[in-house]
Amino acid sequence: MVDPPIFGSFCASMVVLSLLRLSSAGDTLSSVQSIKEGETLVSQGRKFELGFFRAGSSKNTFLGIWFAVSPEAVVWVANRNSPLNDSNGTLKISNEGELVLLNQSKSIIWSTNSTKVLGNPVAQLLDSGNLLVLRESSSSGSVDYSWQSFDYPSDTILVGMTLGWNLRTGIEHHLTSWRSTEDPSPGDYTYRYKIDRLPPQLEMVSKGSVKVYRTGPWDGVKLGGLSLGVNPFINPVFVYNATDAYFAFETEITARSRLSPDGVMQLHILLNGSTKWYLTYSLPNDPCDNYGRCGANGMCRLNEIPRCLCLEGFTPKSREEWDMHNSTEGCIKKIPSNCSRDEDFKKLSQVKLPDLVDFELFKNMSLEECRIECLKDCSCTAYANSDIRGAGCLMWFGDLIDTREIDAVDNGQYLFLRLPASKLDSIRSPSKKLLTITVPSAILGLLIMGMALSIIWKRGMKKRGLPSEMDDIDLPLYDFATVAVATNHFAEENKLGAGGFGSVYKGSLTTGQEVAVKRLSKYSGQGLNEFMNEVLLIARLQHRNLVGLVGCCIEGEERMLIYEFMPNKSLDYFIFDHDRSSSFEWKKRFDIISGIARGLLYLHQDSKLKVIHRDLKTSNILLDADMNPKISDFGLARNFQGNETEAKTRRIVGTYGYMSPEYAFDEKFSVKSDIFSFGVLLLEIVSSKRNRGFQHPDHHHNLLGHAWLLWSEGRATELIDESLCDSVVGSQAERCIQVGLLCVQKFPEDRPTMSSVVFMLANEGATLPLPKEPGFFLERSSGSSDASIVNEASYTFNVITVTLPVGR
Ligand SMILES: *[C@@H]1O[C@H](CO)[C@@H](O)[C@H](O)[C@H]1NC(C)=O
Ligand SMILES: *[C@@H]1O[C@H](CO)[C@@H](O)[C@H](O)[C@H]1NC(C)=O
Ligand SMILES: *[C@@H]1O[C@H](CO)[C@@H](O)[C@H](O)[C@H]1NC(C)=O
Ligand SMILES: *[C@@H]1O[C@H](CO)[C@@H](O)[C@H](O)[C@H]1NC(C)=O
Ligand SMILES: *[C@@H]1O[C@H](CO)[C@@H](O)[C@H](O)[C@H]1NC(C)=O
Ligand SMILES: *[C@@H]1O[C@H](CO)[C@@H](O)[C@H](O)[C@H]1NC(C)=O
Ligand SMILES: *[C@@H]1O[C@H](CO)[C@@H](O)[C@H](O)[C@H]1NC(C)=O
Ligand SMILES: *[C@@H]1O[C@H](CO)[C@@H](O)[C@H](O)[C@H]1NC(C)=O
Ligand SMILES: *[C@@H]1O[C@H](CO)[C@@H](O)[C@H](O)[C@H]1NC(C)=O
Repeated sequence: MVDPPIFGSFCASMVVLSLLRLSSAGDTLSSVQSIKEGETLVSQGRKFELGFFRAGSSKNTFLGIWFAVSPEAVVWVANRNSPLNDSNGTLKISNEGELVLLNQSKSIIWSTNSTKVLGNPVAQLLDSGNLLVLRESSSSGSVDYSWQSFDYPSDTILVGMTLGWNLRTGIEHHLTSWRSTEDPSPGDYTYRYKIDRLPPQLEMVSKGSVKVYRTGPWDGVKLGGLSLGVNPFINPVFVYNATDAYFAFETEITARSRLSPDGVMQLHILLNGSTKWYLTYSLPNDPCDNYGRCGANGMCRLNEIPRCLCLEGFTPKSREEWDMHNSTEGCIKKIPSNCSRDEDFKKLSQVKLPDLVDFELFKNMSLEECRIECLKDCSCTAYANSDIRGAGCLMWFGDLIDTREIDAVDNGQYLFLRLPASKLDSIRSPSKKLLTITVPSAILGLLIMGMALSIIWKRGMKKRGLPSEMDDIDLPLYDFATVAVATNHFAEENKLGAGGFGSVYKGSLTTGQEVAVKRLSKYSGQGLNEFMNEVLLIARLQHRNLVGLVGCCIEGEERMLIYEFMPNKSLDYFIFDHDRSSSFEWKKRFDIISGIARGLLYLHQDSKLKVIHRDLKTSNILLDADMNPKISDFGLARNFQGNETEAKTRRIVGTYGYMSPEYAFDEKFSVKSDIFSFGVLLLEIVSSKRNRGFQHPDHHHNLLGHAWLLWSEGRATELIDESLCDSVVGSQAERCIQVGLLCVQKFPEDRPTMSSVVFMLANEGATLPLPKEPGFFLERSSGSSDASIVNEASYTFNVITVTLPVGR
């Protein structure tokens, strides 16, 4: 992809230089020749020219090298510290074999001062822009030179120059800006490759000590903290090994990178046939590049307002100033570390690591050792893998300075930020704009609409003290742009699934957290009601078997829910696929059954709210990296007040095959409707078959009916998926079938509660009641038995919008 900026900004800020050129003496200056004002050396390919110049209105004369086609682009200056104040300077080769610049009274005001002495030395200007002092008649490719201008950079690096260190000789190349556009003498800014504290990083410093900009530290492959894609024609080169440590660049086109007098590293290119330079890249490149932009322990975020944020676990030192967008004072720890074992770290990716101020590098330490060591030391605030290729640990002590988000691909280097013990705090800390939902819990259901308004109204408003009987939910509210960036603008390849409700995308927040973004279609049947219902419910529910809500986004017509990303898709992906289900052994299945049961128990009984999910099904059971089940999709969930046991709904929602008879026919729902769905799930997990769409040569029953027939004939074990025969624990599987059948009994009052389900599943010796006939076992359908997640999703949607013709 070609970066448009190349063609964008034309750099016209050059000062007119007086070039004192009358004649040229080829590319070589011999020992018997000299160059006076008005004479120049021109490289063989006529690319560069050397001679005397004056900048702007200044009377001072300097010896310099410039691009032949563009004389204002001076790339090197010899006598920066000792200008000629007359026009009678002379450049010649001295008897000692040095290149010397003499003033009118023949005093040496500048010399190459080389230590190596060569016979018959000459000076030659190469097409690279390099000026060499070498033996006469040696080829210009020879390494037998006694001096080269590339070893003494001024404010510009060209292709072939390096910015950094030759570690064998100890020679350093760095840039020093001009004092002003009219004065090439050394100015305020330097840009250098710092190796005094490893890992190295490039630093721009003003007036000798004030940091202006720095790259991130060396990450094992390159310097960190840089955005990629500077320019498609320019290839940056980063070297750090035993002999060399430098930055350079390669390109086929004409380019120069200059530290401007006002402290900006500017990459200019010259287009073919043109004499105009185009500025294509600058460092600092954006406001977040400005050193310590957000103060101590702050994080600078591009494209977001406010730009500065305290790192998680920190709070503004001065809230008033912070609110005035003055982040100078930075942030302080919310809860000082007490070195408790419960403390842990939060992983951040795509960030520029904090500056190497108070830190230590342990080259051989693994990341896990790093974590343990950091945890042991109360003053250790963060750590990182110092080398993305393997071992190496960087630890920071005290304040974290100059951390920022970067717009680049995840390079495999991460910052692990120490956080206080309370996990809740880490989840709920204000990492984004906070949405404060205030709900008097007694009239939750009625307030949904008002809530939506209050959220919109309260956006950006400060959190305030609330009466104690109110519940206060802090849920990060993301703006649309952030979510768009996280999902790569809802790229097709990030799409995880779609349905009538809209689409689900995989995304990665700038903190590195992977998320699933449910972007509700504008035309979806899920209106603001369901949306707010889901937000409200799930934000207040925290359980390891429920999928966690990371935040939401309401902007214009956009409504999005941002969930934790579940890498292992959903349960149906495994159990209804022949190949995947055969490798899905019994123990895993039983753990998943138990997990779902605990999640549901929490929903029904243990949470502050009493929640009925109403749409339990395999595709709503997501699996995390460790295959732990997480109940998802609370769009249809309803919460119940304590004394309510049953409710009526005007709309039938849910999914066929999982819906209880009383719900489908009588619009009555209660916790027992969820129990019915759970029973279906159980039988599906044991048999690897879908209830809906189940086919059997001997009868027309669905899976429930089939299970019931087998059970009543004492052949229940035949229901178990054959591919499980090696791993199955017979007694457990049989118990699951019996519990499943108990759950799908026709009459709600016969079905067990979730607490007894959990008890029955967990206790080998428990005596189970005998199940009665299930509800809905004759139901037939033509549904496909291997519908994909996507189809399942749209299928659910159909059910949501279609009001069943019910006989009431
Ligand atoms: C040039 O510099 C010399 C000494 O540095 C000084 O004596 C002389 O007056 C200067 N000439 C001009 C024109 O400034
Ligand atoms: C060089 O110096 C001589 C006197 O030494 C003077 O006459 C002449 O003007 C100077 N040249 C220039 C170009 O100033
Ligand atoms: C030439 O340079 C010497 C040494 O820096 C200085 O003393 C002398 O005044 C200069 N002459 C002129 C004409 O600038
Ligand atoms: C030349 O180098 C020596 C030592 O390396 C130093 O003392 C001297 O000042 C230098 N001379 C010039 C003209 O830079
Ligand atoms: C270091 O890198 C430079 C540039 O790639 C290379 O020329 C040099 O040989 C390397 N040194 C070592 C010890 O690998
Ligand atoms: C510039 O022109 C030269 C010769 O005219 C050609 O070889 C080169 O490819 C051109 N570069 C670009 C970037 O167009
Ligand atoms: C920001 O706060 C600092 C520290 O209190 C203060 O010195 C500075 O003047 C403030 N800057 C602005 C722009 O208000
Ligand atoms: C450390 O702090 C946490 C909460 O901040 C607290 O639960 C824990 O008991 C403390 N540990 C010690 C050793 O003080
Ligand atoms: C690091 O590991 C390398 C190879 O295992 C070993 O040679 C080196 O001595 C170790 N360095 C330290 C500081 O332990």
